[in-house]
Amino acid sequence: MEPSIEQIREDALAELDAAADPETVNALSIRYLGRKGRVTLFLRNISSLPPEERPAAGKKANQVKKALEQAFADAVEAMAAAPSVEDRIDVSLPGRNPRPGHVHPITQITNRICEIFLRLGFDVAEGPEVEKDWYNFEALNFPKDHPARDMQDTFFVSEDIVLRTHTSPIQVRIMEKQPPPVRVVAPGKVFRCDSDLTHTPMFHQVEGLLVDDRITFGDLKGVLTTFVHEMFDEKTSLRFRPSFFPFTEPSAEVDILCVICRGEGCRVCSQTGWLEVLGAGMVHPAVFENVGYDTERISGFAFGMGVERIAMLKYGIDDIRRFFDNDIRFLGQF
Ligand code: FA5
Repeated sequence: MEPSIEQIREDALAELDAAADPETVNALSIRYLGRKGRVTLFLRNISSLPPEERPAAGKKANQVKKALEQAFADAVEAMAAAPSVEDRIDVSLPGRNPRPGHVHPITQITNRICEIFLRLGFDVAEGPEVEKDWYNFEALNFPKDHPARDMQDTFFVSEDIVLRTHTSPIQVRIMEKQPPPVRVVAPGKVFRCDSDLTHTPMFHQVEGLLVDDRITFGDLKGVLTTFVHEMFDEKTSLRFRPSFFPFTEPSAEVDILCVICRGEGCRVCSQTGWLEVLGAGMVHPAVFENVGYDTERISGFAFGMGVERIAMLKYGIDDIRRFFDNDIRFLGQF
C-alpha cells in the first residue's frame, strides 16, 4: 500500500530531527519536495484517486508540502545562526594530553620475580587458565573426592574442566614435554572462590620447578632464601612451616616477616607478624610417575608463590583488593 501523506510527513520530520548540517537538510528537501520527491509523487498520484476523494487529498498534501518547506527553511536558518565550531572552541588553549598508562603493579612484580629466577638459571613457561581436571588435580596426586581438593575452592566449567586453582598444573605440562633436567618458573592467573583482605577470587602465582640428579630440600631453601633476599633485602627473614600438598613430600609453607608491622602483628598478618607467601616441597614420586620420569634417578623441588602477597609486602599495601579496584589514584603510584 502507498504510504499516506501523514506517514510521509512524519518520516520527513524524523529525518530532519536527525540532520546536523544544512547540506543534509538540502538533501532531505530534494528527497521529499524535489521533482521526484515523495510529496511531489504523492501529489501527482492524486489524479488516479476516485473524483470525490481528490479535493480533500489534494488540500491535505498541499498543506504538508507547505509545512515541510517551512520546516526545512527554518532548520537551515537556525543552523546558520548557531555559532561555528571555531566560535565554540578556543583553539588557542593548550590541548589535553591523554594520561600515559603504565604496567600494572602486579605485572611489574611478576616480571621482577621472573627476572630474579632467570638470573638463577630458570626458564619461563606458561599454561592455560582453563584447565583439565587431570592437570589441575589428578596428575598432581589429588584423586577424585580427595579431601585436599577442598583446600582450593574451585570454579568448575564442567565436570572435567576447571578454572585452574593454582599454577602447579604447568609442572605436569612441562615434564610431559621434556626429559630432566627441568628448571622453570611459570607465572599466571589462578582462580578460587575466596575473598577477604588477603584473598581475591582471581590472583596470580608464580610456579617454580627444578628437577635434576640429587636435588635436596637444602637446594629449595637456598633458592628461596636467595630469591627473598633479592626481592626484599638480606634482612628479610623467612620461616618454613611443615604443611601438606598431595604433590610434594615433604611439604612446607613459607612465610616472610610482615614488612607492614615488622613482626609486631597487624590486621594484614592477622596479628602473627608473618605473612604466608608460598607453598613448596619436594616433588612427590606419584607426580613423576604420572609423567614417566624415573623416580630412582631424579628428584626435584617445586614451589608456588602468591604474587599479590609479595606485592603487598613490597609496597606496604594492607588490602589485596586495591590491586583490582582500578582506582587510578592507587595504580598511579607504582
Ligand atoms: C598452592 O597453590 C600450591 N600449588 C603451591 C605449591 C606449589 C606447593 C608447588 C608445593 C609445590 P596455596 O593454596 O597455599 O598453595 O597457595 C600458594 C600461595 O598463593 C599462598 O601462599 C598465597 O600467597 C597465595 N594465595 C592463595 N590463595 C590466595 C587468594 N585467594 N588470594 C591471593 N593469594 C592467594
